[in-house]
Amino acid sequence: MKILVTGGAGYVGSHCVRGLCDADHEVVVYDDLRAGHREAVDKRATLVEAGLADLPVLEKTVKGAGFEAVMHFAASLDVGESVKHPLDYYENNMVNTVRLLRVMEQHQITKFVFSSTCAIYGIPESVPITEVMSQSPINPYGHTKLAMEWAMRDSAVGWGLGCCALRYFNAAGAASDGTLGEDHDPELHLIPIVLQVALGQREKVRIYGVDYPTHDGTCVRDYTHVEDLASAHLLAIESQQTGCFRCFNVGTGVGSTVKDILEAAREVTGHPIPAKPAPRRPGDPPELYADPTEIMSKLGWKPKYTDIRQTVRTAWQWHQAHPHGFQSE
Ligand code: UFG
Repeated sequence: MKILVTGGAGYVGSHCVRGLCDADHEVVVYDDLRAGHREAVDKRATLVEAGLADLPVLEKTVKGAGFEAVMHFAASLDVGESVKHPLDYYENNMVNTVRLLRVMEQHQITKFVFSSTCAIYGIPESVPITEVMSQSPINPYGHTKLAMEWAMRDSAVGWGLGCCALRYFNAAGAASDGTLGEDHDPELHLIPIVLQVALGQREKVRIYGVDYPTHDGTCVRDYTHVEDLASAHLLAIESQQTGCFRCFNVGTGVGSTVKDILEAAREVTGHPIPAKPAPRRPGDPPELYADPTEIMSKLGWKPKYTDIRQTVRTAWQWHQAHPHGFQSE
């Protein structure tokens, strides 16, 4: 299948591009490299260096090219920043996605896989989270992602789009061969921050909140290996029919607290990784983990990484070999 992958130079996108190339799909990556990395783009894929706001380039890329499907990773993803600068999020995550969908409609590309998020559930009424639970995001990031799920549902009815929203939980880890990994600037995610302490790049980890109603007082998340996310995308695109909307939680079903992550990282790195309690981070739900029954039964997805130490180990391998991210090369 010929597939256009927006944001294919980013963390999750680059792992998915590799998975698509391994499965012999023809991939064109569309990425402005503001957050992505040229070095992360699989050599078998073609890179178009442009943003979705650049409509003439998008049109030129798609026109007559014979794409059958689009995977859409390009988005802004920092919850805290979305609260401070909501319109940037509405612009990048909504306006640009609508632009992309419109180009797809014009060129009759009817298969779409969308990076959605567990942030659409807001503070869930219970855990584990199923797809039918109420969707009430508590920040602009979640609002923009949910709104795009609505645009997809409506497009399925209106013009026959076949679409799958994959609701990620916390993407984590790195490619098992150590060549691709997480490189954000600034880095805000827990596992890379913890490993930067182990590398001596930071002094200590700040634990945002130790008084949550969880077993050790710290937040619970479902850390899902990025290669398992990639396999979910492959299964989704290869089974996608036109004229329908599907959505799946993509998580392991196992929750880990911030303290669990610290313990796992201490074990993997052999470093004491000092940590100190800090105030809660605004907008953090106490406990998020997936019920992955739907994706397992409907797509046959099964995560390879179910022990958080294995996931942290792959991330550690990456961070040790690339202490300054892709720039280390
Ligand atoms: N945390 C710390 N210290 C840090 C960094 C994070 O204690 O220095 C905690 C956070 O408070 C949270 C957990 O570690 O409890 C995980 O935080 P991350 O920033 O790694 O990830 P989030 O859970 O905040 O974010 C993820 C996705 C978002 C998604 C969000 C939904 O990255 O895209 O879940 O809540 F929107």
